[in-house]
Amino acid sequence: MAPPLIQLKDIALTFGGTPLLSGVELSVSQSERVCLIGRNGSGKSTLLKIAAGLVEPDSGSRFVQPGATIRYLPQEPDFAGFATTLAYVEAGLGPGDDRYQARFILEQLGLRGDEDPAMVSGGEARRAALARVLAPSPDILLLDEPTNHLDLTTIEWLESELDSRRSALVIISHDRRFLSNLSRSTAWLDRGQISQIDRGFSA
Ligand SMILES: Nc1ncnc2c1ncn2[C@@H]1O[C@H](COP(=O)(O)OP(=O)(O)O)[C@@H](O)[C@H]1O
Ligand SMILES: [Mg+2]
Repeated sequence: MAPPLIQLKDIALTFGGTPLLSGVELSVSQSERVCLIGRNGSGKSTLLKIAAGLVEPDSGSRFVQPGATIRYLPQEPDFAGFATTLAYVEAGLGPGDDRYQARFILEQLGLRGDEDPAMVSGGEARRAALARVLAPSPDILLLDEPTNHLDLTTIEWLESELDSRRSALVIISHDRRFLSNLSRSTAWLDRGQISQIDRGFSA
């Protein structure tokens, strides 16, 4: 069997008093589609940031298959330093990515590319952030609340776009229909521990 693209082992992290994560494992293989669920404050966003390499756990290991490409959609995207949505999206492209995709995906998401990121609405901000992770073709997409602020048409577009891609997915979302339609395995965070089953959210 092929090694996982990302593997987190025995992750522990405490902010202040009680441990947020302890003994957490998460493994994502090629083309796998995982939904990461749990109550508000259970540590989903933090675990996704650890998977993205943006937060260091207190202990545990993070393995990423050499050469594997990752894109991470934050719950709160930061546009600081970018004059236009196009510049923001282009900055997310990697060396092997098709530069034309930045404009193409922005247009698909109803943006022109010349919007000032400081002036856009919540929905436009989310669409620009999605364009930034969808313009490339990464091996793994880590998505924190991708449907927030989106209208139903855009959610449906996003669903079929993700479904058509070969990227492995890890998705945090409150949108049950979105999770049911896309996920094929489920990781459930509860009181610091994680359980993973190889059935989608609908199961
Ligand atoms: N950098 C941080 N410093 C201190 N506490 C944090 C930090 N990041 C997250 N937390 C806390 O960790 C808990 C889990 O947060 P989060 O991972 O965002 O959960 P979820 O995404 O499941 O709602 C929350 O109580 C939050 O306040
Ligand atoms: Mg969160």
